[in-house]
Amino acid sequence: MRHLIDRLEKERRLEKEEWTALISAGADREYLFERADLARKKYYGRKVFTRGLIEFTNYCKNNCYYCGIRRDNRRVKRYRLTETEILDCCRQGYALGFRTFVLQGGEDGYFTDERLTRLIRTIKEGYPDCAVTLSVGEKPKESYLRFYEAGADRYLLRHETADETHYRRLHPGDMLLSRRKECLFWLREIGYQVGCGFMVGSPGQTAECLAEDMMFITKLDPQMVGIGPFIPHHETPFAQEPAGSVERTLYLIGLLRLLKPNLLIPATTALGTVDGQGRERGILAGANVVMPNLSPTGVRKQYELYDNKICTGDEAAECRSCLMRRMERIGFSIVTERGDPAGECRSL
Ligand code: 5AD
Ligand code: FES
Repeated sequence: MRHLIDRLEKERRLEKEEWTALISAGADREYLFERADLARKKYYGRKVFTRGLIEFTNYCKNNCYYCGIRRDNRRVKRYRLTETEILDCCRQGYALGFRTFVLQGGEDGYFTDERLTRLIRTIKEGYPDCAVTLSVGEKPKESYLRFYEAGADRYLLRHETADETHYRRLHPGDMLLSRRKECLFWLREIGYQVGCGFMVGSPGQTAECLAEDMMFITKLDPQMVGIGPFIPHHETPFAQEPAGSVERTLYLIGLLRLLKPNLLIPATTALGTVDGQGRERGILAGANVVMPNLSPTGVRKQYELYDNKICTGDEAAECRSCLMRRMERIGFSIVTERGDPAGECRSL
């Protein structure tokens, strides 16, 4: 498979059949990780960026079959953080060295455009040297525009799978892959730094599905891609499904690094949940971002998208120092920076 790895590095694209062959073989891992490490080093050296994740609402109108905070899960205790609580997370986070805040939540109608734009403005006023990332799902283009004008810098919206049939297996009929993709292209057009992504090993996923994901990412050309293994949640229709493979996730991280050398790729919490060394292994495979939680410890357990999520009992400061230690141990260091894509202009 070396020839395909080499060609990917050189041409930054492959044909769908080639992606499928490469991903299903999963071969020449050490070689791939070596190339990915060199590519990453060129842009980012040994730096790891952090993002302070604020899970500000677990209300969600959607009913994705894989997700623990889906609408039909009556067992989860719903919460919303107040503006004061959110700003408190930012204050704590800033003192700890975070220069990006990610506002992530379910698709919650309570947070209207007015409420969200006010929140974005307040955060940007208080922390003008920080980036604000939104992760609040599908919205009309107009809303995305308003958030951007209020100062939001980045937007995360995982596409979950780029394969139409697979998308139908993961979501009820009222969710459309075409709409999801349309949202991502709008976000890019507006000027956000955009992140898409998918789960590895979600029910029904084949190597062809993953090849389709790589083709879609090539076309969208996002600044960030988040991937992590699927992990079953006991209160969902996928409770009995097996978790995704760590090895395959790492392999895909390596491929993403070669596809786009300055891509921002997180070593995700899901990866750290299925493997005690998952985040370290993610970094070594080519990732360059970690996203510890800044949410108040009182609500962490209630934002359980999947079972056994790590760090739900730890203070933000503990996670920060834990991750710093973990990164140092593998020869990387966490930096106090916004962590914009290297070699690209920051959107103003
Ligand atoms: N396992 C792993 N990842 C999940 N996500 C949601 N549910 C699960 C699960 N059971 C991911 C989705 C979503 C992101 C916020 O978390 O990809 O976009
Ligand atoms: Fe949260 Fe280690 S990162 S305790």
